[in-house]
Order: sequence, then C-alpha cells, then structure tokens
Amino acid sequence: MGPGISVDGARLRADLEALGRIGAVPGGGVSRTSFSPADAQARDWYRARCAEAGLTVQVDGIGNMFVSRPDESPAGDALPAVWSGSHLDSVPNGGRFDGALGAVAALECVRRLHEERIVLRRPVRAVVYSDEEGNYSHLFGSSALVRGFSAAQLQELTGRDGDRFADTFAAAGWDLARATRTRVDPGTVYATVELHIEQGPQLERLGHQIGIVTAIVGLGGGTVTFRGRPDHAGTTPMTMRKDALAGASALIVQFPRIARSVSDRAVLTAGIISVEPGGSNVVPGTAYLTVDFRDLQRANVDRLADTIAAAAQAVATEQGLEVDVEFEPTIPPSQLDDRIQQIIGAAAAARGLAASALPSGAGHDSQNLAALAPTGMIFVPSAGGRSHCPEEHTDWQDVENGANVLLDTVITLADA
Ligand code: HGY
Ligand code: MN
Ligand code: MN
Repeated sequence: MGPGISVDGARLRADLEALGRIGAVPGGGVSRTSFSPADAQARDWYRARCAEAGLTVQVDGIGNMFVSRPDESPAGDALPAVWSGSHLDSVPNGGRFDGALGAVAALECVRRLHEERIVLRRPVRAVVYSDEEGNYSHLFGSSALVRGFSAAQLQELTGRDGDRFADTFAAAGWDLARATRTRVDPGTVYATVELHIEQGPQLERLGHQIGIVTAIVGLGGGTVTFRGRPDHAGTTPMTMRKDALAGASALIVQFPRIARSVSDRAVLTAGIISVEPGGSNVVPGTAYLTVDFRDLQRANVDRLADTIAAAAQAVATEQGLEVDVEFEPTIPPSQLDDRIQQIIGAAAAARGLAASALPSGAGHDSQNLAALAPTGMIFVPSAGGRSHCPEEHTDWQDVENGANVLLDTVITLADA
C-alpha cells in the first residue's frame, strides 16, 4: 500500500467543474470535439494547472500530453514509468465526467506526490490521450502511441462533420509531419492505470463504490452506404422508388436480431445517418449510416461484421439498391492485468470501499495501452448508468474515492 496520502477532493471537484465549463452547451452538456477550439481551450486549461503545480508537460506529434515532475527526468529515466490518464475530448453534447475524471485525477495524483515530495522507485506520468472519442479515429491518441499512423493513413481521415483531419489539424496549429512519429518504446512503460466512470448501471445497482475492470470490449465499425435513385416525393409511386434511406432503415431494424444471433453482450448502433440530396420532397438517392458494433470476444466482433455485411447486401438485393460496406480495422478486446486488478482491489479494501469486478462495454485507451504494458482500470459509479449525454453524473464522494484508489494503485506500482 501507499504511504497514506490522499487526494484533495475539493480541488479535484473544483477542477472538474472548471473543465466542465469549457465547451459547455445549453442544456448542461459539453461539446469538446478533438482539435476544436473547445478542445484547445481545455488543453490550455490543463497545461495551466500543470504549470501552477510546478509540473512539466511534453506533447507528442498527435497531441498526447505527458506530465512529469521536474525532479524526475522526463526522458532517459533509469526505470520504466507508470502512466495514468484519460482524455479531455468529449462526444457531441456529452457529459462532464467521461475522460475528464481520469485526466484530472491522474494530474491530482502527480500533484499530490510532488507536494508531498514523495520519491518512488519509478517515475509517474499523468497522460492525456488525444481524440479518444474518435472524431477522426476511435482511440486515436493511444493508437498513435502503440501502432502509429502513416502519412497516407492520416490524409484519409475525416471527422464527424466531414472535415479532413489534415486540414483541421493544420488549421489548429499542429504539424502533420510530426504526427507520424508517435510510437513509444514499450520498454519505457512499466504499467498503466486509468480511472473512469462506469458509464453503465452495475455499480449503482450493487451499491458498490469501486469497479475493478477485468476486460474491455472489442470495437468494430465504419460506414454502410446505400445507393438508390433520387426522385420526386409526390409523383413517384411507392412501387417505383429506389429509396436509399428505406434500405438503411431495413438494415437498422435488424440490429436487435443480429446482436442476439451473436451473443448476449453484442451491441450494434447506427449513430449517424445522412442522406443525399437531402430535401423533404426528394426521395433519398444515397444514405450513409455509421455502424458501431461491440463484443467482449474477438470472434464475435468478426461475426457481427460478417452478419451486418450480409444483411446489408440482402436488403440491397431485395430493394434494388447498391450497397458499400466499409469497416475500419477492428480494435481487439483486451484482458486487463491480473496483478493490477489485485492491487486495485487491495487499495479499495484498505479504504473500506466495496468493490466488484466487471468488464467494460465502453472502449478506452487502456485497451490499446494493454499492448504496451500491464494495464488496469478503475471504475466509479455513474448515476442512473447514464453517459454520453448531458445527464452524465458521478457523486463527488465517489469521485474522491476513485481518485484515492487510483493514487494508492499508482504508488504501489511505482514503488514495485
Ligand atoms: O465509444 C466509446 O466506447 C468510448 O466512449 N470512446
Ligand atoms: Mn466516451
Ligand atoms: Mn472515456
């Protein structure tokens, strides 16, 4: 166990409330899409907190930020470092805790260690991962650290609003040439641990304060495009239409059946639909839908991909449409490290907190980082199980509890 220090719960809350005002939108949500002005403001705010605490920030070519203490050399450390962090970006009209909690709590841990002048065997880095929510590519920052992106791959990325990553990135003052040089040497990372809200209902139902994450779902997805024929909405008989959106709809209504056919845990979502030419009195000629599908088993993610593609083709044939299915490479599911799970469990027990083990249905940078070093995740309860919406909330006592378990876990790992 750690040497008995705790986080400053009031400071952590004040920080999360201040960060929650950046990108705030009417109705209580936040929109901090990566590389937007709000994202830049959040990054500036975070850097200012680090500077205030006397901490040093290094930023890599894709915008991942690494915070270290000035009394620890940021490069060339004798022993590999312990990383803890999460993300500052949000989904459109999302909540104030997803990502923000783990990013600010990791900073609070490093801040407390620095304030108490605690010297551990290994360096501890607070980390902010870029574009976790995948405006341009899901788990973008951690993918860049683990696998890296070529210039050609970066040139192909587009955002939710249809903007090209290369244009938005350059306009925000970033250097595309540096964005291809982001991979880290696994030998420099000893372990990683991320605090996050659960984003589901289990902990609240159980009345437990801490979740010990056992595994993270595999993620598949991409775009399905139906092509038919634009026609007059008033004069074209229903029997003569090639309505692309009718095709997309016929696919979407099959999602519950497809999920059940693969596993109890499989989930499918069409989160964005757009049509062309887009007139209330024009039969849609083209319909694009994003599809996100997940399961804890890699083989099931692959089965979902195959089943969706087959169903889309069957709909297209039946309705006289054409269809293109373009799925991005699957982000595989990850098993989290057993020893770190035990350390989290011991930290929770030592603080008198009830904990239970559970898998994560949300994707997290930790699933990429697990390929780099032993990785763990700590969950705290989400009120009503709600997330990716303005109602997202975690009780402030749960926030403090989670951050204390994170601090203890980081100290144990860094002193190993
Ligand atoms: O999509 C996810 O699961 C995560 O919130 N990025
Ligand atoms: Mn999220
Ligand atoms: Mn998140």
